Amino acid sequence: MRAVVWEGPRRLAVQDVPDPRIEEPTDAVIRVTATAICGSDLHLYDHGAVMMMKPGDILGHEAMGVVEEVGAEVGHIKPGDTVVVPFNISCGDCYLCRRGMYSQCETTQNWAGRKGGSLFGYTHMYGGVPGGQAQYLRVPQAHFGPIRLDGGLAEMAAVLLSDVLPTSWQAVEYADVPDGGSLAVLGLGPIGQTCVRIARHRGAGQIIALDPEPDRRASALAHGATDVVDPDAVDTVAAVQELTSGRGADSVIDAVGMDSSGSVVDRVLQTAKLTPDRLHALRDAMGCLRRGGTLSVIGVYGGWYPLWPLGDLFDRQITVRWGQANVRRWTDTLVSLLEQGDPLDAAELVTHQVPLEQAPDWYRRFRDKEPGVRKVVLRP
Ligand SMILES: NC(=O)c1ccc[n+]([C@@H]2O[C@H](COP(=O)([O-])OP(=O)(O)OC[C@H]3O[C@@H](n4cnc5c(N)ncnc54)[C@H](O)[C@@H]3O)[C@@H](O)[C@H]2O)c1
Ligand SMILES: [Zn+2]
Ligand SMILES: [Zn+2]
Repeated sequence: MRAVVWEGPRRLAVQDVPDPRIEEPTDAVIRVTATAICGSDLHLYDHGAVMMMKPGDILGHEAMGVVEEVGAEVGHIKPGDTVVVPFNISCGDCYLCRRGMYSQCETTQNWAGRKGGSLFGYTHMYGGVPGGQAQYLRVPQAHFGPIRLDGGLAEMAAVLLSDVLPTSWQAVEYADVPDGGSLAVLGLGPIGQTCVRIARHRGAGQIIALDPEPDRRASALAHGATDVVDPDAVDTVAAVQELTSGRGADSVIDAVGMDSSGSVVDRVLQTAKLTPDRLHALRDAMGCLRRGGTLSVIGVYGGWYPLWPLGDLFDRQITVRWGQANVRRWTDTLVSLLEQGDPLDAAELVTHQVPLEQAPDWYRRFRDKEPGVRKVVLRP
């Protein structure tokens, strides 16, 4: 089959690789019909070498398709069914899965490296499981993971159930915005865009959306943001304070993660290795919060970072909630919402559908944030 493989930093190829097959009674194999590129894939694109990617690894964790074959212990799906596959690989039945912490599944947890549950296409830290940007995908723990779709959902909304919709739902849930309260969303890629829509749907009063990219700010404004801010043009913290009576927002979501851009000074310091990290967005996010507010970090961070402002978080009584999305915890709610007329206008989040063979070019265009390129779905 054909698959998108990582060859080295910023080097991808679409290659012939062996077809997957059933290896365990809890496996399924699906023929992939749609598979998206995620902001999380961009961390691998840029820094895969330090994130334990190996040349030849198949990328992708956002896939849907048609079931080809199931193992003996897989009962809820059968060949011919259309399914979407959550990016977490979870058993559904261990101590942590039973508490809805599917990203921490004890059956697929990577004990040796002290990492959580395995993920599709996401490095040897998370199981080294071949990903879904391919013609076929082997799905481990398929007796629990895949969600059968009964034909009622728009295909481009359905594929986003693998990650974007549940991840953003969790980010808003964890942000704990008071009824009618204020929320600042940093980063308006697919995740931040969806957070804005979900927050509006769930009753936030003021939604301040921040991103350096003008088309991403415009899209957020068209879908529920009340204010937009360009973090490259102004002092972000001061701008959010000014919009919130000098107090700061009740809740803030960091939907940027470890590849945040910073000021020109920051960039020079980073290039010269005079500053140890790229936590610009996280620092801004903490600064934008009011005292007693809640910070929800959905952007991905890896490794160790010094200079965490513990004293400030203590003094201001900040609550921080974060982590990998527990996809299956939110998908039933989301499927009902999509079936009830889709108030999130989810299918519209996908801006491009392109052939799998063009993946390397579209990774670059998504990474470079070409105007209008906000969510790309590959067609095998
Ligand atoms: N926790 C999870 O389970 C989970 C799941 C999916 C994605 N993610 C993470 O969420 C983050 C967003 O994903 P995405 O697909 O939307 O990615 P993306 O790369 O498309 O979006 C990131 C956005 O942040 C903006 N940005 C950069 N620096 C900024 C700054 N200083 N202030 C404000 N905005 C800034 C960029 O312009 C871009 O629009 C990534 O870190 C991704 O890895 C986490
Ligand atoms: Zn993703
Ligand atoms: Zn489990």
